[in-house]
Amino acid sequence: MSSPVELIKEKLDIATVVGSYVKLERAGGNFRAKCPFHNEKTPSFMVSPDRGSYHCFGCNKGGDIFSFVEEIEGTDFAGALRVLADRAGVVLTRENPAERNERDRMFMLLADVTLFYRKELRKNTEAIAYLRKRGLLPATIDEFQIGFAPNDWHITEAYLRSRGYTDNEMEKTGMSIRTEKGIYDRFRSRIMFPLCDSSGRVVGFTGRVFNSDDPAKYVNSPETPLYNKSKILFGLSLAKAAIRETGSVILVEGQMDLIMSHQTGTKNSVAVSGTALTIMQLEMLKRYTDKLLFSFDSDDAGLAAAKKSAIPALRMGFDVRAIELSGEKDPADLILESPEKWNEAIRQSKHIIEFFLAVLQKKSTDKRTFRLAVEKDVLPIVAAIESRIDQAHFIDVVATFLDISRDAVYEEVKKTALGDTNSPIIHEKFDAVLPLKKTPATRREAVERKIKGVILWQQHASAPLLNADEILARYKEIAGLIIDAEEAEKNALIYEAEAFYDGSLSLQKSVDDLLMSFEKEILKEKLVETMADLRKAELLHDSAKALQILNECNVISEKLNRMNTSL
Ligand code: UTP
Ligand code: MN
Repeated sequence: MSSPVELIKEKLDIATVVGSYVKLERAGGNFRAKCPFHNEKTPSFMVSPDRGSYHCFGCNKGGDIFSFVEEIEGTDFAGALRVLADRAGVVLTRENPAERNERDRMFMLLADVTLFYRKELRKNTEAIAYLRKRGLLPATIDEFQIGFAPNDWHITEAYLRSRGYTDNEMEKTGMSIRTEKGIYDRFRSRIMFPLCDSSGRVVGFTGRVFNSDDPAKYVNSPETPLYNKSKILFGLSLAKAAIRETGSVILVEGQMDLIMSHQTGTKNSVAVSGTALTIMQLEMLKRYTDKLLFSFDSDDAGLAAAKKSAIPALRMGFDVRAIELSGEKDPADLILESPEKWNEAIRQSKHIIEFFLAVLQKKSTDKRTFRLAVEKDVLPIVAAIESRIDQAHFIDVVATFLDISRDAVYEEVKKTALGDTNSPIIHEKFDAVLPLKKTPATRREAVERKIKGVILWQQHASAPLLNADEILARYKEIAGLIIDAEEAEKNALIYEAEAFYDGSLSLQKSVDDLLMSFEKEILKEKLVETMADLRKAELLHDSAKALQILNECNVISEKLNRMNTSL
């Protein structure tokens, strides 16, 4: 019987798995994408459905669906196995709960307590009425698994104990707080919103105050082995597909904003939950899209937030736009009032720089205050733009707004950038990993690489186009000694060979040409060597040897001439 791993590999197509995280483009029999593991502009990430593998020519990461999911979900093999088994509908045999490892038990505890809170919410008509008043439909409450933590210091603890969890586990998942006198429930009388990782597993909660005089509006799970607040984006697991489909992501601030946004059909939105957006969150989003839309208020606090979020995003190469919110309304309020107003605000979004220029112009009393405000708030944003072409465009825009020369704006942007060691102007490239392109030292090596690639490709292809053994024999005959490629290198060679073969000629013809140039390169190298020997013999006045070498030279060059004319 096949192992679960084999079964999963049989059932899942790598292009579908990878394609649910990154946007794939067809490239012959393969797919190409921008690498999700390093920052790049031109796609060098290849996926082969035939071989069930992927390889990135930029950062050299490669492997199968399991290593892909491990890497992209930031999980271990067991985590990837679970995610993929789920997708494939393969049932993994369950071990005894007590024997499961600690992380698994924590996930299980959180899944159980989520169900418990959902049941509690169903019993609490007041809390349901509140959510309905905020505009949430019953289906939305279900989709987001919203629950209620009763007004009690020990009810969650008692429930979890009845399910066999220990105090230690309750504390470690953040559900209980420990004192000298024992433990008590962290969340009491709160509407509970589960926080999920990108694959949709509950890793923590945020609880909104309800019918209690607790001054904290929201209480969140503490940092735990599963919950790292700088890595979680609320709603991401439900937004992934829509982000890829629409090619953009909308960032809102609070969970109610996010939930309402999803409810009105804007499913490509995620929430930062009141904290500043982190680089890690931006890196996660970069796997799905490079277009960000933030919703900002046009008051001073909103502008400060806009600047703070936009700069790192622009540095990472995101196209950043602003959705303007007016007055006291956050997206949740706006949507409750009229979903159409939210849609309209999204349609009216402006590039972050145009948003700033428009808001500052409206605020400024005269030309000079406007110019100073632009210098302070807009130029640092222009300096953060990763693409020089884009940057030049916005330097033009600013120059037009200020009615001054673009050179003057450019000089100021450069000054701003110099004061900022992270600016892309200073670091010409922001690429986290520099491409490790190996340029072959000689033409012979380049050709040889392609031949090896074609042989490996045809050996591994499910429906080979050529007889790989025959090419191998011809290659051996020309090369004499051959050196086998290392395992990791083989994958790269195959992708290169596939890329080399563009289908315009027959593969057989392409290979014949390759073998021919390979032979010629070998002969040329041999000719150079032999000529050097000839020079040595002449220097030693060994005329007999010189004559013999000269003959060899003639044989080689005649052979080369024949090959050239036979073309
Ligand atoms: P807001 O105070 O704007 O709340 O905080 P909100 O989102 O409009 O909340 P509702 O609509 O009254 O329910 C914005 C976000 O900041 C975080 C929450 O994620 C909240 O959604 N926050 C706020 C906290 O983490 N703790 C708090 O005490 C308050
Ligand atoms: Mn609100």
